[in-house]
Amino acid sequence: MSQRIPLIAGNWKMHKTGTQAVEAVHQLKHLVASAANVEIMVAPPFTALFQVGNALKNSNITLGAQNLYWEPQGAFTGEISAEMLMDAGCRYVIIGHSERRQYFGETDETVNKKIKAALAAQLIPVFCVGELESERDAENTFSVLDKQIRDGLNNVGFNGKPHIVIAYEPVWAIGTGKSATREQAQEVHLFIRELLKKQYGHEFSSLVRILYGGSVNPGNIKSLMEMPDVDGALVGGASLVPETFGKLVFYND
Ligand code: 13P
Repeated sequence: MSQRIPLIAGNWKMHKTGTQAVEAVHQLKHLVASAANVEIMVAPPFTALFQVGNALKNSNITLGAQNLYWEPQGAFTGEISAEMLMDAGCRYVIIGHSERRQYFGETDETVNKKIKAALAAQLIPVFCVGELESERDAENTFSVLDKQIRDGLNNVGFNGKPHIVIAYEPVWAIGTGKSATREQAQEVHLFIRELLKKQYGHEFSSLVRILYGGSVNPGNIKSLMEMPDVDGALVGGASLVPETFGKLVFYND
């Protein structure tokens, strides 16, 4: 029996004002109040974090952000530091999402700096990796992931503690309705766990959670979660509607 508590996380991307986000979490709180043996996280836009953080107090839902900047403070117009996210009530921060790599110029090197900044502030990074469709077609999936993970975690130490979550999000599966099969997800998750084992040892790799993301919905989550190395889901579209998010949390029922 795995010691890894499943994590069902909603990445709300650029959706919902503060008011709309608070309304959604009020509904969600109610819907998932009885959920046990599962961790739940929502990552609203920056402008909603503080309000949502307050609304989630004394609930079983944790707060995450979608990005950060690696410097602690300074003249970096438009950026947000790890300390600011902690102050807003965040426990997690999504780092290196493919949309940030694709549209905002993030590289493995900037991802690495962000992971270090998050860890220094005691935030848990949700480190996103994933191949493009063309990379899968060219049979480069494993080499692409190997580089993303090695470079993203370059000189990152954990002292044996699994203070990170990995999210495998094949780019071709995001927002397309075309989820990876559970066999494809399992194959990659196992590859990632083996890679982490080589770098950080058996205990670390057996405790770290690896989420799958990409067109997860109430119809496919159970089957994905049955795979031994799939420890949760990072969900975009299907997490926006509280009733649907609730169904994802109760994937096992
Ligand atoms: P979808 O669930 O909308 O495919 O998005 C996945 C994702 O990018 C989560 O970070």
